[in-house]
Amino acid sequence: MLKRTHFCGHLRPVHAGQSVTICGWVNTYRDQGKGLFFIDLRDKEGLAQVVFDLESSADDVVTAAHALRREDVVAVQGTVRLRAGGANPKLATGEVEVVVERLEVLNKAETPPILPDEHDAEKINEETRLRYRYIDLRRPRMQHILKTRSRITKFARDYFAGNGFMEIETPLLIKSTPEGARDFIVPSRLHPGSWYALPQSPQLFKQILMVAGCDRYMQICRCLRDEDPRADRQAEFSQIDLEMSFVEREDVMSMMTGFVRGLWTELFQYDIGQVPMMTYAEAMERFGIDRPDTRFDLHIHDVSDLAAGCDFKVFQEALAKRSPAGRKGVVKCIRVPGGAEKLTRKMTDGYSEWVRTFKAGGVPVVKLTANGFETGIAKFLEPIKDRLIERLGLQVGDAVLFACDSWEVATKTMGELRLKLAGDLGLIPEGRWNFLWVIDFPMFEWDDDGKRWVALHHPFTSPNPDQFGILESDPGACLSAGYDLVLNGSEIAGGSIRIHRMDVQERVFKLIGLTAEDANAKFGFLLSALRHGAPPHGGIAFGLDRLVMHIVGTDNIRDVIAFPKTQSGGDLMIEAPGPVDLAQLQELHVRQALPPKA
Ligand code: AMO
Repeated sequence: MLKRTHFCGHLRPVHAGQSVTICGWVNTYRDQGKGLFFIDLRDKEGLAQVVFDLESSADDVVTAAHALRREDVVAVQGTVRLRAGGANPKLATGEVEVVVERLEVLNKAETPPILPDEHDAEKINEETRLRYRYIDLRRPRMQHILKTRSRITKFARDYFAGNGFMEIETPLLIKSTPEGARDFIVPSRLHPGSWYALPQSPQLFKQILMVAGCDRYMQICRCLRDEDPRADRQAEFSQIDLEMSFVEREDVMSMMTGFVRGLWTELFQYDIGQVPMMTYAEAMERFGIDRPDTRFDLHIHDVSDLAAGCDFKVFQEALAKRSPAGRKGVVKCIRVPGGAEKLTRKMTDGYSEWVRTFKAGGVPVVKLTANGFETGIAKFLEPIKDRLIERLGLQVGDAVLFACDSWEVATKTMGELRLKLAGDLGLIPEGRWNFLWVIDFPMFEWDDDGKRWVALHHPFTSPNPDQFGILESDPGACLSAGYDLVLNGSEIAGGSIRIHRMDVQERVFKLIGLTAEDANAKFGFLLSALRHGAPPHGGIAFGLDRLVMHIVGTDNIRDVIAFPKTQSGGDLMIEAPGPVDLAQLQELHVRQALPPKA
């Protein structure tokens, strides 16, 4: 076989006159007439133009060249020259071409079901591309993403190793540990009737590594959660997982800020500057979400106090509501500068319909014109008009959109509407990287179905140091030492300072309704570790796939994973999940699956 000397995509005018051998896939071929035949040969570095001078080539080369079809795999040996037909400025190798002397067809390809070019990718549905992933991954865009992902993981390994982190693998066959999602489970052949769970994250192992004296741990690990995939969520995804001993919240946050700062410098020569911090309470009040997108304004205002002075039934009913956690109903609103013109009736009617998804009744709207408030609800707002104008800083031409409901519904509605408005009105600037730390999350959330408190992050998260006193007396107000790193409105990392004392861990388990026996059965190993010398520790995990999505600029998580699952959790290329033999099930002591629930 001809031995490769250069990558196709690396050829430049400096190589002119050199004899080279390049290998790759036939991207395109064309018979130019006048005895000339061209192919564009592609490898992971790019395309090179290859010319066959049919007049002077050996007969077997001419025959083989004529038989070439797209995606055939070939090696060619020839001489590089400056392009005879003029340079192609669109191509990195566009100034040169290789005049073939020898051609070796390494593998003929069947007619490709899809073509690995961007133009084709836009037209072909994603299912077909996933089925033929090995062809789709040949696309330059996909090669770029895979390379970028590899640069990111290399940077992560270098940065954390340089800061004293040890890379340690943790097991994949474990027992169920709660992280809020459903487990994937695996039957045990050697223990009839017993099951392993696949890890939702290495959470407890990394904590135990701290007890084991490892001090700083990192792992690029796979996490498996049996939840429905979404645009930014896969059942099988990757984390850059980290844990540190003898640290406080600020130590972890500053180490991680250093990581993203370094990464953005490395990839974009971009200085992310100081990363601001915001409390969860402020995020929910002003942005209606725990991961605010701070690239645009459109802040949310609570105007419940003003609304109380309106004779408007919808407002009054909302204010009278009480949520299960005991919160009073609210009236919230968003000021849309210039919205009187920009927001058509069709749009605002559409929003009223759309917010039903969040259980809201609608979106009352008022517009401020030179003649005062306009639209259906204007008359109700008359008594509070001046105070509303002053509070929101309203100008003629603005619109105000309201959500009035329980605190939870109104907050969620405003948060979602804020994002939708920004998208619809084109308010999201391009090319901005807004990082934000969100801190001071509540420790617990009230689960009205189960009538109990549940841990908002996970039950190993510590309360903030000044919050231990109210853990039992006011769990709803107790703040945790958790932190999330948000980028442009998406949570790219989440972590916390952990509980390192058994007595505190037991108190938290008790609060979330875990009896001592349950706790022991589920996490006896953790409690035992905490009794045997656990250092104060904390950590975080970056969602690697989400990080890559931001960096390469896609909103489809499947673009950044070499072999992703579809929306229904399937791998179309290998056709998983699939049936297994009865004999396999027998060996695993598993009876045939029950029919699905009606
Ligand atoms: P958490 O569950 O918040 O924390 O996950 C950490 C980060 O992982 C990403 N992520 C996901 N990415 C793709 N698909 C999913 N299904 C998915 N779920 C989460 C997010 C998230 O910020 N053990 C803790 C971390 C810790 O406390 O140290 C954990 O797993 O970007």
